[in-house]
Amino acid sequence: MNEGLKKATIDGLNKRGKTEILEQIQEPMEEKQPKKNKVESIEDLPGVGPATAEKLKESGYDTLLSLSVASPGELVEAGGLTEATARKVINAARSSMGMGFESADELLEKRKNLLKVTTNSKAFDSLLGGGFEAGSITECFGEFGSSKTQIAHQLAVNVQLPKEKGGGEGICVYIDSEGAFRPERIKQMAEFLGLDVTQTLKNIKVARAFNSDHQMLLAEKVEDLIKEQGLNVKLVVVDSLMSHFRADFSGRGQLADRQQKLNKHMHTLQKLATAYNLVVYVTNQVMSKPDTFFGDPTAAIGGHIVGHNSQTRIYLRKGKKGTRVAKLIDSPHLADGEIVFNIEETGVKDV
Ligand code: GTP
Ligand code: MG
Repeated sequence: MNEGLKKATIDGLNKRGKTEILEQIQEPMEEKQPKKNKVESIEDLPGVGPATAEKLKESGYDTLLSLSVASPGELVEAGGLTEATARKVINAARSSMGMGFESADELLEKRKNLLKVTTNSKAFDSLLGGGFEAGSITECFGEFGSSKTQIAHQLAVNVQLPKEKGGGEGICVYIDSEGAFRPERIKQMAEFLGLDVTQTLKNIKVARAFNSDHQMLLAEKVEDLIKEQGLNVKLVVVDSLMSHFRADFSGRGQLADRQQKLNKHMHTLQKLATAYNLVVYVTNQVMSKPDTFFGDPTAAIGGHIVGHNSQTRIYLRKGKKGTRVAKLIDSPHLADGEIVFNIEETGVKDV
């Protein structure tokens, strides 16, 4: 029994007869018991008082979902919690979200309903099991002209399509680090699909990233667009992921620093993908591997950090007669394979 209730009972007993009081407290007790463990808002979490809740909210952790996907270190920094409390808070937030184990049939059902955005190419979509998938990061890497940016433009348009046409009925946030975004190209693609051109352009929020810190900040701001402006963001594009990181941290001595920041950036993107069930599409450059004797002597840059954080990796290259080839690399849930597609005036197309 909590202190308040105990006092009320004793006070009551002093004033009135025992049975009457017991009747009165029995009912609310029964109702209260399960509620005590039920976490419905941040304030209900163990170890979170009003002041901490306020601090967490100010730092953007204003929902149970945002806390459940946070790391202890982030909460220590944001809310001044001890690491142990931070862990307790995260675990409580997670169990309130029902983010524990799920049976495989439920998972299968969930995966069937996962948003997948079409590329306009049947071959490309089937390589990806239906299209670019929400909830995780998809990376396309390849040399210049391999169509990484064209795919970004196509997805920015297609994510706006109705669900039955392979879209997500949502809008796109486009982080452009190379100045390669072209609204004229969006216009062409929208016209081909019979969409309202002005509306299609309005539904793409473009920001030019000027350096790696700026790029990281822009990715962090996407959550504000969703929460504060109520935008239904279903696609976040980062084109390209690595060019600023590559330029800003050039020496060997800066590599560890670069990878740490890159890791944080990828985590921000990953969190957006899972928390808001949206597609994250990042493009990446390649470097040549001079020690390769067999096979393709190119590899994505960014090392393990990028590789481990991108659930789906696609290697793009130029094929015969102006075609493009997309090859799936080490996917955990899709069959390996490669397909051929075209880039035309109308956008991405089957050959
Ligand atoms: P980098 O960013 O330079 O590494 O290359 P990328 O992989 O992003 O290539 P991008 O998507 O920019 O270009 C791929 C190809 O698309 C180009 O080689 C062109 O053939 C084609 N392309 C680009 N813009 C247009 C366009 O407006 N119309 C048509 N039909 N094709 C285009
Ligand atoms: Mg490009």
